[in-house]
Amino acid sequence: MSPGKVVNGCIYLLHQREDIYPEPKQFKPDRFLARKYSPYEFMPFGAGARSCIGAALAMYEMKLVLATILLNYQLELVERRPVKPQRLGLALAPAGDVKMVMLGRCLPFCASRAPGRHRRRSRQAKPLAAT
Ligand code: HEM
Repeated sequence: MSPGKVVNGCIYLLHQREDIYPEPKQFKPDRFLARKYSPYEFMPFGAGARSCIGAALAMYEMKLVLATILLNYQLELVERRPVKPQRLGLALAPAGDVKMVMLGRCLPFCASRAPGRHRRRSRQAKPLAAT
């Protein structure tokens, strides 16, 4: 290879490897319970000396945001078509929006429906006293 050439590993292709992730296109979060992937097998934030410095913050934000949304809302995809990846700098992202519709508030058994959880919000929502 000639000097000055830039070489980038492709994180997307790594995460599509059938030998590491059987049925890689399937959404199977349980695969992360079944085994622990090495930093050379799973690297959403890159690897080595120049890996993402925002990884911990990003994970924290994603857990908070996703948990809040999933605890409170029922969502459904608008389109069932597979999402196409598109290059976004070093990473890949969905080409276009991934539209969802909100079907309603959370399920009846959801934790946020437990008595007392929404007390403050419902108190605020009370109409002004009509005296
Ligand atoms: C889901 C969210 C994020 C993903 C998937 C992500 C992914 C990445 C990846 C793949 C790299 C390249 C690593 C490499 O070259 O090996 C990178 C670098 C970087 N990321 Fe993130 N990142 C995320 C969020 C953030 C956040 C929240 C911040 C800052 C608060 C951040 C700051 C940076 C910086 C400064 C670099 C360059 C590090 C360097 O070149 O030394 N990232 N990120």
